[in-house]
Amino acid sequence: MITKGSIRQNLGNTLLKTDFPFGKRYQGKVRDSYIASGKRVIIATDRISAFDKVLTTLPFKGQLLTQLSAFWFGKTMNAVPNALLDTPDPSVVVHKECRVHPIEMVVRGYLAGSAWRDYAAGKAISGIALPPGIRKYQKLAGPIITPSTKAASGHDLSISREEILSMNIITKPVYEQMEQYALALFAIGSDWCSRQGLILVDTKYEFGDDNGKLLVVDEIHTPDSSRFWYKDTYQKLFDKGEEQRPLDKEYLRAWLISKGFMGDGPVPVIPDEVKIEAVLRYNKAYEQITGGKLGVSEEPVLQRIERNLRKNGYI
Ligand SMILES: Nc1ncnc2c1ncn2[C@@H]1O[C@H](COP(=O)(O)OP(=O)(O)O)[C@@H](O)[C@H]1O
Ligand SMILES: [Mg+2]
Repeated sequence: MITKGSIRQNLGNTLLKTDFPFGKRYQGKVRDSYIASGKRVIIATDRISAFDKVLTTLPFKGQLLTQLSAFWFGKTMNAVPNALLDTPDPSVVVHKECRVHPIEMVVRGYLAGSAWRDYAAGKAISGIALPPGIRKYQKLAGPIITPSTKAASGHDLSISREEILSMNIITKPVYEQMEQYALALFAIGSDWCSRQGLILVDTKYEFGDDNGKLLVVDEIHTPDSSRFWYKDTYQKLFDKGEEQRPLDKEYLRAWLISKGFMGDGPVPVIPDEVKIEAVLRYNKAYEQITGGKLGVSEEPVLQRIERNLRKNGYI
């Protein structure tokens, strides 16, 4: 089980990166992928990124995110087909290798984050002009899709539906299917979260093409891809114009900002206590969303993954 004690004991047992001798290797911000025989083995490391920078590693983070995303893929697979084929290790998923569409489908049920900043500055949000008078963190009349480009590096840029279609980045029928899938996923996610005492504020989905079939790829409804608030405190905080109670990686972001770090210059040294708290938040997210607890082992992460990949014939 994940407790303060087990996190502390495993502060040194984290996975920073992998370098396995199979397939074509791709290193993302958080995950290492190996592509071979039409499949993509995606290893969630324990890296944590914020401000588009890798900051440190956190014990159990790779497992927590992988298992949470697998939970959601199971819950949504009847409504939206996904690329998940296999989960050979707690930190590893195997997907069908897809041609990923270069647009992130961001869905928002509330006005927060960059959408709030754009709105407050009088700008349209990915081409959507919301009516005047909406307050920060207000629930929108209905979920909106605010796509952004999947930039090769650095910050993602918002883009409008019209631009995507007129530049023919994605064909209209495929894009419409992406919209339908994104809203369907968001509806399932919001309903489930609501029953678990949470609000799914906003999230992003990636879609890919598998021989003409559209699949949701990557991960869904994890704290790395989504913003969650506690439901019971929402209205009161909103009425008072205060910050919401978040359940996500904004904890570390907020700590960094309190140290004056906004993404530029050297990353401040992150104390153990702050790391432990950050893991507890990820674990809390897992438990609150799934209603279950994640079992963990003390085996060195890299050794465990290698053993499981061998056992399942990937290496
Ligand atoms: N089924 C899939 N087929 C092809 N690519 C995928 C699939 N699932 C996820 N990916 C890609 O794998 C990478 C996952 O690693 P991540 O750490 O999120 O990297 P990034 O920094 O590029 O977001 C992403 O680039 C994502 O688009
Ligand atoms: Mg990613």
